[in-house]
Amino acid sequence: MDYAIETAPLETVSTDCLIVGVYQDLHLSASASQINQSTDGLVQKLLSRGDISGKLGETVLINAIPNSPLARVLLVGLGENQALSGKNYRKALSAAIASLKKTSIKSIVCSLAETDVKAADWQWKTRQIIEVFSDAVYQFTACKANKDTDYKLEKISISAPPAEVNAAQTGLIQGKAIAEGINLTKHLADLPGNLCTPSFLAEQALALAKDYPLAVTILEEADMEKLGMGSLLSVSRGSRQAAKLIQLNYQGGEKNAKPIVLIGKGLTFDAGGISLKPGLGMDEMKYDMCGGATVLGTLLAAAQMQLPLNIIGLIPSSENMPDGDANKPGDIVTSMSGKTIEILNTDAEGRLLLCDTLTYAEQFNPDVVIDMATLTGACLVALGRVPSGLLGNNDALCDDLIKAGEIANDSLWRLPLWEEYQEQLKSNFADLANIGGKDAGTITAACFLSQFAENFHWAHLDIAGTAWRTGTNKGATGRPVPLLSQYLITRAHG
Ligand code: BES
Ligand code: MN
Ligand code: ZN
Repeated sequence: MDYAIETAPLETVSTDCLIVGVYQDLHLSASASQINQSTDGLVQKLLSRGDISGKLGETVLINAIPNSPLARVLLVGLGENQALSGKNYRKALSAAIASLKKTSIKSIVCSLAETDVKAADWQWKTRQIIEVFSDAVYQFTACKANKDTDYKLEKISISAPPAEVNAAQTGLIQGKAIAEGINLTKHLADLPGNLCTPSFLAEQALALAKDYPLAVTILEEADMEKLGMGSLLSVSRGSRQAAKLIQLNYQGGEKNAKPIVLIGKGLTFDAGGISLKPGLGMDEMKYDMCGGATVLGTLLAAAQMQLPLNIIGLIPSSENMPDGDANKPGDIVTSMSGKTIEILNTDAEGRLLLCDTLTYAEQFNPDVVIDMATLTGACLVALGRVPSGLLGNNDALCDDLIKAGEIANDSLWRLPLWEEYQEQLKSNFADLANIGGKDAGTITAACFLSQFAENFHWAHLDIAGTAWRTGTNKGATGRPVPLLSQYLITRAHG
């Protein structure tokens, strides 16, 4: 998809379709009224005839405009004639692209960035158009015989007046970078476990380093053995796929600036191991690498935006399978930190990889460490599929992430990490157990991780409910790439 800013006056642009907003009670947006004038009151006529009431998300396509270089005009309802909430602005954008997606339209000019949106500038409004449109046209065709997409769209332009071109241009660059990052994350996540293996993910990281200034190192099992990562390696022992610890280094900041470390759980398939999962819906455990895919997507976005930051990405990747050599309930392993872990449930494997990766991250003297993981089904029970769970040992970092989530429309909800919960992880035979019983599963999982994150500021995002959609609409969402990208943008530019 080609994205651009359009500065020509609307009545002179030639496009397959111009998108303009209309409000309830016959109020026209500036662009709609411009088009109304150049078409002898056509828009007003449709409104007063009741063909469109202006309700939020309503759309009407005018597919013949006499004497105009505009082939079509799409009217989009924006609701009441007042500043929209960010969410409603995105709803209007979704409705617009949904109504055009499956047509033969190749080019669009969208005028909706002029919409008055609460606490939003042209940069943000431009960026959202790209993110929402790009999300809507994403299609996973890699494993279909017919790889044709069901839309013909090639070019999306966002119209901006001269005074706002700079802001719109910045929004365009950010939107394109974030949308590309989201697309990579979705694509890797939607790939099945037989194709997207730990080695495949490692190859993707190396491929990314060909296009962007990233240094990639792949730690093999022998390397991890030398480092003493007994916890991580105990999980991959039950799989025929070799584990990989993928390390990406983006050095956009000053040489000695402390890095932001992003860690993503990269289980390319989680069958549960000997504590085997039930069969229903087990296919969705191909998505257990969404944290890792998020690290790749976010680094792509950061590198494309050339953010002046140092960022290190770490993706511990493995399968979790039942096998004669797999972990057994009751097994005790020694982590890189020296702490011993009693594995009471082999399905609580994510934390077994993440704990060694957190210990490994210490050597980078990180400014902050943020991990993303499809860690607990309990997070779905607690929060559903709306926000990701957030837990951490530093309030300022957690607040920054919550704020970034609000701006990016990729929300978080913080859960407590009180020491009382640590009791649940006590083991009679090792330093700690890998599960904390049936209560507060998301919190006890984070408590487990916190014991390996004592030496730096750390936040954990449980994305079990947000990284993909289930049901007939099954597919990856690309979350939390928008949130992390926003966090990085704010860190870089204030
Ligand atoms: N990858 C799963 C978590 C998960 C389950 C995410 C369902 C999304 C949907 C994780 O490895 C896991 O199996 N966790 C267990 C932990 C339990 C054994 C303490 C879980 O949530 O059941
Ligand atoms: Mn599991
Ligand atoms: Zn898992």
